[in-house]
Amino acid sequence: MTQGNVLAVEFGRPLGDDPELAYTLPSRYYTDPAIFELEKERIFHRSWSFVCHASQVAGPGDYVAGDVVGQPVFVVRDRQGVLRGFHNVCQHRAHELVRGAGRLKTAIACPYHAWAYGLDGRLRTARNCEAIRGFDKADFGLRPIRVETLCNLVFVNLDEDAAPIADLAPNLAADMRRRLPYLDELEPAESYDFGGRPIDAGWKVVVDNYVECYHCEPAHPAFSDIIRMPSYEHTIDGVTARQVGHDVRHENAAYPLAEDARMPHSVFWYLWPTTTINVLPGDGDLMVTQLLPDGPFRTRFINHRFAPGGAPDTEARRDYLENVLGLEDTLLCESVQRGLFSKGYDQGRLVVDAARGGTGEHVVHFFHTMVRDALEG
Ligand code: FES
Ligand SMILES: [Fe+2]
Repeated sequence: MTQGNVLAVEFGRPLGDDPELAYTLPSRYYTDPAIFELEKERIFHRSWSFVCHASQVAGPGDYVAGDVVGQPVFVVRDRQGVLRGFHNVCQHRAHELVRGAGRLKTAIACPYHAWAYGLDGRLRTARNCEAIRGFDKADFGLRPIRVETLCNLVFVNLDEDAAPIADLAPNLAADMRRRLPYLDELEPAESYDFGGRPIDAGWKVVVDNYVECYHCEPAHPAFSDIIRMPSYEHTIDGVTARQVGHDVRHENAAYPLAEDARMPHSVFWYLWPTTTINVLPGDGDLMVTQLLPDGPFRTRFINHRFAPGGAPDTEARRDYLENVLGLEDTLLCESVQRGLFSKGYDQGRLVVDAARGGTGEHVVHFFHTMVRDALEG
């Protein structure tokens, strides 16, 4: 199927603008590789993607490389203290310039033929090019990309015309600051790897599962024991959604929670399209989970955990998150992806009532309309 006819197929049942009457995205949206190709252009390469914590690029020359769904990128702090972002590709013959994270001394040197760029992206030296006819170094600077920082979290966007995060999510920074008084104490800590394997499900299946807690009681018994589900709240704001579990049980089936825990509730922020910012009850930390779509039917993750002073998590909480909660969601998503290939399914009905309660599916509708509008866009 070519990109040209991707949108020609009409929905059998409408998503609708009213979540209370809405159906899900047709299963073709989860099974057609042409849709994924279109998503790269119209979603991932036009939206904000998490790269790192600001403390990882605090000094001149500090850099972190990343990947925006097939597009290698990096951010680097220049000599003047400006955080810059570039496509991670040499303008000579396209070798990638940097890998991982580290500190550059004075220049970004390409490993292939040693062209060297300043931290501002300008090409400074190109070996043996003095006598090359018509060659002007000014024509071969690195291609910049947009960089923004939200609550010490660094994001990039390949679309130079993209709206700033503050316009797209006008209350997110203030909300994070209000709910996480320890925000400026956070430093990178050990990360969870949730079994170290990708999920065999597309990124939309993963987001669908993330943005509803209708499944929490049947599928996450320990989570719905530590969080009292009647207290659950799920709201939409700009291109974000927020889940708050207000009431907790200190004695519960998930992990021990001290009576004086610094973070006595859960908050999960979803930032369109592939970033989740997660805080579970405990000593006070933050986990940014980067969804890395790896083809139409597979999603990898990087879970960046941050804690005051970089403190490690407790064994019990880590064990619960990695080996219980994470595994439960992995298996749910993989089963749904298999089900979406079934000839016996196309569109389901979302469970949304007027109350927009925390265990309804109104944010799934929000997400589906965001996908639909972006693909049509
Ligand atoms: S590809 Fe970078 S110097 Fe040749
Ligand atoms: Fe879940």
